[in-house]
Amino acid sequence: MRILVTGGAGFIGSNVVDGYIETGYSVCVVDNLSKGRRKNIHPKARFYEVDILNRHALEEVFIKERPEVVNHHSAQVDVRRSLSEPLFDMSLNIEGSLNLLELSVKYGVKRFIYASSGGAIYGEPRFLPLTEEHPIEPISHYGVSKHTVEHYVELYRHNYGLNYVVLRYSNVYGPRQDPYGEAGVVAIFANLMLKGETPVIFGDGGQTRDFIYVKDVVDANIAALNKGTNLCLNIGSGKETSVREVFESIAQIVGFKGSPKFQPARKGEVSRIYHDVSRASSALKWTPKTPFKEGLRRAVEQIKKEVLV
Ligand SMILES: NC(=O)c1ccc[n+]([C@@H]2O[C@H](COP(=O)([O-])OP(=O)(O)OC[C@H]3O[C@@H](n4cnc5c(N)ncnc54)[C@H](O)[C@@H]3O)[C@@H](O)[C@H]2O)c1
Repeated sequence: MRILVTGGAGFIGSNVVDGYIETGYSVCVVDNLSKGRRKNIHPKARFYEVDILNRHALEEVFIKERPEVVNHHSAQVDVRRSLSEPLFDMSLNIEGSLNLLELSVKYGVKRFIYASSGGAIYGEPRFLPLTEEHPIEPISHYGVSKHTVEHYVELYRHNYGLNYVVLRYSNVYGPRQDPYGEAGVVAIFANLMLKGETPVIFGDGGQTRDFIYVKDVVDANIAALNKGTNLCLNIGSGKETSVREVFESIAQIVGFKGSPKFQPARKGEVSRIYHDVSRASSALKWTPKTPFKEGLRRAVEQIKKEVLV
């Protein structure tokens, strides 16, 4: 099977590429390296340094590679940047995705796997755990743009028969997460603590998230190659963990003795969230397997190698 992965030099996309190649698939990567890194790209993947907004260059890749599956991970992923630069967020996340959908239909792609956000599209939860039936009430431009593409994906199935799987990720963490980004609390905290610096907690630290280890997300992307057809699926651990608990667990692994600094809560962020993943479990025959502390240990190990060299 030939698979085109967009964002395959980034955090999640590059892990997905590794998983596909290790499973025996033929993979090409499209990434403009705005955030991703060349060294993340698996040596067996064919790499195209192409912007998904550049329709012409993107079409050349489709002509050359003739992918059977498009797995779409490229995006503007910064919630705060989406609030300050809404047009940029809209353009990359919506227009870029439309370019891919149009070309997928034109070149006979069989399946479109879309990385959506279970953390951003539902808004402030009305009930927990969040199921896929929860109202869609995003409180950031990023949440709106990520969800809008789900409508297009369904539209392209309805009008052109393009099968899809939408994977709505919760908070993903693990190797290759950017410790200098605005999100990704695990990588940010671990990086600072390893350097003996004090992490900042926005709010009182009681806010909760559903943290899922990236390898479990990769397994969902592998399963989505032939299961979960035309469904939107929450992909999370199904567990609720507070930011304060994240701080304490990483401090224990790293041996960090300090206390966090506290600053006011940030706009566009929900106070509590975790997901019901039973639909994904039955549709994909998938379960998240990595215990949080084990995942944290592996994430810290990788950051140690990267940061302290
Ligand atoms: N990290 C999470 O917890 C999380 C949660 C929910 C959803 N997601 C989604 O998963 C996907 C991957 O997120 P990530 O955390 O790995 O982010 P990331 O920034 O590490 O990866 C995104 C990749 O897209 C590339 N890219 C950006 N603009 C591009 C463009 N115009 N053309 C081509 N490539 C471009 C970047 O260089 C980068 O390699 C995104 O779609 C994001 O919305 C992530």
